[in-house]
Amino acid sequence: MLLINNSGFGAYGEFPSPGIDHTLKMVDVNVRAPVELTGRLWDELKRRGGMVATVASLAGFQPTPLMTTYAATKSFMLDWSVALDAEAKRHGIRCVAICPGPVSTNFSKAAGFASSTGLGGQTSDECADEAVRGMAAHQPVVVTGWKHKILAVFSARLPKPWAAAIGLRMIQRLRLDRFVKKA
Ligand SMILES: NC(=O)c1ccc[n+]([C@@H]2O[C@H](COP(=O)([O-])OP(=O)(O)OC[C@H]3O[C@@H](n4cnc5c(N)ncnc54)[C@H](OP(=O)(O)O)[C@@H]3O)[C@@H](O)[C@H]2O)c1
Repeated sequence: MLLINNSGFGAYGEFPSPGIDHTLKMVDVNVRAPVELTGRLWDELKRRGGMVATVASLAGFQPTPLMTTYAATKSFMLDWSVALDAEAKRHGIRCVAICPGPVSTNFSKAAGFASSTGLGGQTSDECADEAVRGMAAHQPVVVTGWKHKILAVFSARLPKPWAAAIGLRMIQRLRLDRFVKKA
């Protein structure tokens, strides 16, 4: 049995932009829904064995200013999935946290950007190929893209306040405001 927790969306801007209702919906879709779905299917997963693949993000490896809630939802899912994998192995269930960097999908538009942010990254096929290979190898964490792998190792080792301060400077330099859809 394979459960893929993929649904999710992001937002850019100073907290609570673009609004507290939107932010809470993000917590519901990115965190509450996958935890609930997995929980409700848990007995069946235990009975049949299988895998829970959860799409977290590179953003889950460090606190990320200007995407505070989105990144925190992905940190939750990353830690949750890794801990669950350790706990559930003995029941024949493996859990894989898939952590992409930027991928060309509808994600930027859903996050409130009018056009591509020019961050580059992977195509969805490249990302999915790597994710599937990682799942087949039962890797608890699959960071897709070699540059993203290096970034993940580096940022996860920094003290969190440093990672947040460096992240803020880097994101400000990207001037993502240019791409935000005007209300
Ligand atoms: N693209 C990136 O750069 C990137 C990087 C790291 C992680 N991720 C993660 O990858 C996952 C997939 O995103 P994507 O890049 O494929 O973006 P996407 O093209 O915008 O797809 C988002 C998916 O989430 C579903 N969804 C969004 N809002 C929802 C809501 N309110 N209720 C139920 N379902 C909702 C969408 O369903 P509908 O099609 O029915 O709307 C769609 O299946 C997300 O968890 C995202 O956080 C993306």
